[in-house]
Amino acid sequence: MTTTHTILITGGAGFIGSHLVRLLVHKYPGYRIVNLDALTYAGNLANLADIEAAPNYSFERGDITQQAYMQELFRKYNFDGVIHLAAESHVDRSITNPLEFVETNVLGTVNLLNVAKEAWKDQPAGKRFYHVSTDEVYGSLGEEGFFTEDTPYDPRSPYSASKASSDHFVRAYFHTYRLPVVISNCSNNYGPYQFPEKLIPLMINNIRENRPLPVYGDGKYTRDWLWVKDHAAAIDLIYHQGKTGETYNIGGNNEWKNIDLVHKLCDIMDDLLGRPAGTSRQLITFVRDRPGHDRRYAIDASKIRNELGWEPSIKFEEGFRQTAQWYLDNADWLQGVLSGAYREYYAKQYF
Ligand code: NAD
Ligand code: TYD
Repeated sequence: MTTTHTILITGGAGFIGSHLVRLLVHKYPGYRIVNLDALTYAGNLANLADIEAAPNYSFERGDITQQAYMQELFRKYNFDGVIHLAAESHVDRSITNPLEFVETNVLGTVNLLNVAKEAWKDQPAGKRFYHVSTDEVYGSLGEEGFFTEDTPYDPRSPYSASKASSDHFVRAYFHTYRLPVVISNCSNNYGPYQFPEKLIPLMINNIRENRPLPVYGDGKYTRDWLWVKDHAAAIDLIYHQGKTGETYNIGGNNEWKNIDLVHKLCDIMDDLLGRPAGTSRQLITFVRDRPGHDRRYAIDASKIRNELGWEPSIKFEEGFRQTAQWYLDNADWLQGVLSGAYREYYAKQYF
């Protein structure tokens, strides 16, 4: 089959990227999907083992901050579009090591913008630079209200500050150089293949191993959770139908206080593991709070719903259960990522 369209996906070996790569490889057999990933601690080719031999898929190991390398990659594949997910993504790590977040999320994104701008300057028609971002750029909400696309940026962690900065650069390249960009800002994702430093897989794994469940502060911090495959579907839609220069918020309309969510997970896991009801809740331990912890995130996703017809497809209860079951069924995957380096990180972060 002739390739009609070639997309560069950065960070495709990570959590969300791997779901997106899988979706596009299956859905568009006539496209070439090129996954560029540095394979940091968060990148894992085992996430894509089922599609690695697909004829329309290629993997390239490389770093978005390397200019000459990225220029060569653009020459090699003559990309029609970029979907940029590569990033350092964990807030707690950003508090320990902010510079790494500036290097990857800010400098890496600006390098990619430059390389795309140069590569596409003589043939701009039909190109698209899609930047995948987070709702954390909008800061922290009180009890009421939602983030819309017009909410002023107010990032409060080094992670969200680095993502906010990268969003600003992407918009600057649209206004200054007419680079055909589109941006989305999404709420917290959950599902298979998420690195177990993040809340949901961390809790599932600790319940499985009968270890303490570390809840930060008073546990009343609120997040809006979205099934990762619904995020991938939204990205596909925005890539193909979103308006150039626009921003789309993506959210699950599914707010949970952390403590309620951990209770729910404990109950589901007790059921799946055949433990007496209430067993896992006894593992809950309140630990010192994250510095600058954002109280609440909640997305108003009416723009993408009204303009592009996107809706979350599954109910949290069902997505949650499927996720817990997936981690139980994929103990080998979990074992593979729980390396010595992760154990060192865990020991430093929690004790
Ligand atoms: P992740 O940490 O699981 O994956 C990031 C991937 O980027 C990894 O595969 C890693 O190897 C790769 N990477 C890191 N530095 C790189 C570099 N210099 N060059 C090339 N590759 C590099 O992250 P995720 O949770 O899948 O998030 C993906 C994107 O979506 C990020 O941009 C993140 O800000 C955004 N996002 C995430 C969430 C969420 O809930 N996880 C929500 C909204 C937006
Ligand atoms: P996380 O998954 O790190 O996502 P983010 O900080 O990007 O929203 O954390 C989700 C919420 O869970 C956040 O309020 C912090 C809290 N949390 C804990 O209470 N304990 C933990 O061990 C972790 C990792 C997070």
